[in-house]
Amino acid sequence: MNPETIVFFENRLTPLSEARVGILTHALGFGTGVFEGLRAYWNEQENQLFLMRPREHFERWKRNCGILRIEVPHSADELAELTADLLRRNGFRGDVYIKPLAYKSSQRIGIHTDDQDAFAIVPMPAPAYLDSSKGLHAGVSSWRRIEDNAIPGRGKICGSYVNGVLASDDARRNGFDEAILLTEAGHVAEAASSNIFLVRHGSLITPPASENILEGITRASVMELARNELRVEVIERPVDRSELYVCDEIFFTGTMVEVAPVIRVDHRPVGTGEIGPLTAKLRHLYGQAVRGRLEAWRHWLMPVHIPNEPLGDQAGQ
Ligand SMILES: Cc1ncc(COP(=O)(O)O)c(C=O)c1O
Repeated sequence: MNPETIVFFENRLTPLSEARVGILTHALGFGTGVFEGLRAYWNEQENQLFLMRPREHFERWKRNCGILRIEVPHSADELAELTADLLRRNGFRGDVYIKPLAYKSSQRIGIHTDDQDAFAIVPMPAPAYLDSSKGLHAGVSSWRRIEDNAIPGRGKICGSYVNGVLASDDARRNGFDEAILLTEAGHVAEAASSNIFLVRHGSLITPPASENILEGITRASVMELARNELRVEVIERPVDRSELYVCDEIFFTGTMVEVAPVIRVDHRPVGTGEIGPLTAKLRHLYGQAVRGRLEAWRHWLMPVHIPNEPLGDQAGQ
């Protein structure tokens, strides 16, 4: 991470190296933060950065903050503008990952909360995450996905990510690329930090929101692409563990992993053991859409740079 990166922190622009919180911050002690993760994609031909569905991400963030009664005092559109401004100031010319984080900010040791909230938005060059180009080997975790009545998994609540950390750490140490978590009832929920889709009998199947999943924006985008571009039926229904072993294709979706093919599960090949045709098509379509190369999906994108202005002159400093 470049310490010079300009971030938004405590209502001002500041270098990342100066965006620090105290050791007794409530969110650090108890996990009482809510974060988001969104991306901007660089389009070389157009010399343009496109924020992918920023309104949806910021609306989800604000709603999720409401679960913890954290207030973000801006509209989703204002937050998208603020983010675009940050990207311009940093002069990024490549894919960017942006982490908004709202949190209980008072310095205290008691568990009860007050109304002292803060938020930050940190952009960074998109990190290399999980190389899925040749397909992943996933393992079903012995850790179960957190229940909605314990810590709502749809909330992107900082503390709840211990669940995914335990599962993915275990999976990697056991030789898998990523973990798949089941619900307490034994149904497939999702991967450690992405949603899951299966292909069976030509249809796309994914667990519904009521299976303790994070309601992914990539998941929603892929469902739209499948229905509208490929005329493929998409079914949201509970998924048994053993369906992972008998289906034709599996892939994960998420802002970080995009559309990531899974070619082995628990040491068994998925379908033919190669990247499946529907997965490959959706991966390609998604990759085209997020870079603004599909006219029909440009409404997902917010251009960051102002046309006819040299990129370097937009720093506003
Ligand atoms: C637990 C979990 N599930 C699913 C996702 C995918 O969500 P999205 O597509 O909105 O990035 C994420 C990514 O943030 C996640 O953390």
